[in-house]
Amino acid sequence: MVKATRKSAVGEAHSKLILMGEHAVVYDHPAIAIPFDTLTVETRVRPTIGKVRFASNFYTGELEDMPEKMYGLAKCIYAVCAKLNQPLEHFYIELNSLIPIGRGLGSSAAIAVSLVRGLYNFFGADLNHEVLMELVDLAEKYAHGTPSGIDREATSQDYPIFFRRNELTEQVKIARPLHIVVADTGRIGDTHASVSSVKDRYETNYSETKARLARIGSLTVQARQAMETGELIELGEQLDQAHVELKALGVSDPGLDHYVEASKAAGALGAKLTGGGRGGCMFALSDSFEQARLIENALKDAGASQTWYCQIVDEVMSYEG
Ligand code: PMV
Repeated sequence: MVKATRKSAVGEAHSKLILMGEHAVVYDHPAIAIPFDTLTVETRVRPTIGKVRFASNFYTGELEDMPEKMYGLAKCIYAVCAKLNQPLEHFYIELNSLIPIGRGLGSSAAIAVSLVRGLYNFFGADLNHEVLMELVDLAEKYAHGTPSGIDREATSQDYPIFFRRNELTEQVKIARPLHIVVADTGRIGDTHASVSSVKDRYETNYSETKARLARIGSLTVQARQAMETGELIELGEQLDQAHVELKALGVSDPGLDHYVEASKAAGALGAKLTGGGRGGCMFALSDSFEQARLIENALKDAGASQTWYCQIVDEVMSYEG
C-alpha cells in the first residue's frame, strides 16, 4: 500500500548575466556574473501514485521516456533519489521556466538548480551548496560538454560573483548602482558550438588566442575593481574592450555587433555580448535610469526581439520591466 504522506514542494532559481569573462573562464581566467532575477524558473514536486511523471513546456510524460535532449535533467533526478535513498516513484514534477533557452542567460543551469532544490524540499532533506553544485553539474555536463561551472554558481547565488574555476567564488561589491539594459537577438546561440570553436582556434592559432583570453581575464580583474570603486566610465570602456576580444575570437555575430553599436550611439558607457554568443543576448551599461530607458528604446528600434532593464546595487537587486 502506497502512503501519500508527502506534501507538494517548490524549488526556485533565477537566470544570470555574465558581465565579463565568458569563454576566458573555460581557460581558468576569472569571470564576473550577476543574478538576473527578472527571469526565473520554478519546479513544483507533487505526490502521486505510480511512475515519476514530468511536465514542462519542452516535454510532458513519464520520466523514463524523457527525450535525449533533456536527459541531463533525468540524470539529476536519478542522482537525487539515489543520494537520498528515495524510491524513484510516486512523484510528479512540474517545471515552469520564464528564461528563454539558448540566450546565454543560464536557462539550463537555472532549471537544474530549481529541480534539485524542489526535490530536496519534497523529500524534506537539507541541501548544501556543494551538493547542489555537484548535482547540477550532471545536467550541465550533459547540456554543455565541459562547462566552466559559472552558470550553476551564478543561477544559485543572490549576489554578483567573481568566479574562477576550482577556486572559491567571491562576492563582488558594488559602489555605485549599475543600470543595465539586456537585449535579446531572438536567435538561439549554441554555447557548446561556440566553446568548441574557441577551442579549435586555441589549437590552430595558439599564441594569439591565448593572448586574447588572457586579455579578457585581466579586463575582468580591472572590471571588478571598477565595480567596487564605482568607476563606471572605466567599467564601460572595459566592457567595450572585452567585446572587441570576443569578436576577434569569433563568438560575436553581426546582429550582436549591431546592438552593441546602437546602444553606444544611444549613450551607453559600454556594451558587449553576454554568454556563449553567436546569437543570444547582449547588454549595455548606463549610469542612470533615464539613459538606460533611451538605450532600451534604441535597442528596440534597432530590432531587438526583447529587452529588459535591471539595476544592480550592492547586495539588494531591484528590477523593472
Ligand atoms: O551558457 P552560456 O551561454 O551563458 O555560456 C556560458 C559561458 C561560457 O564561458 C561561454 C561557457 C562556460 O562553460 O563557462
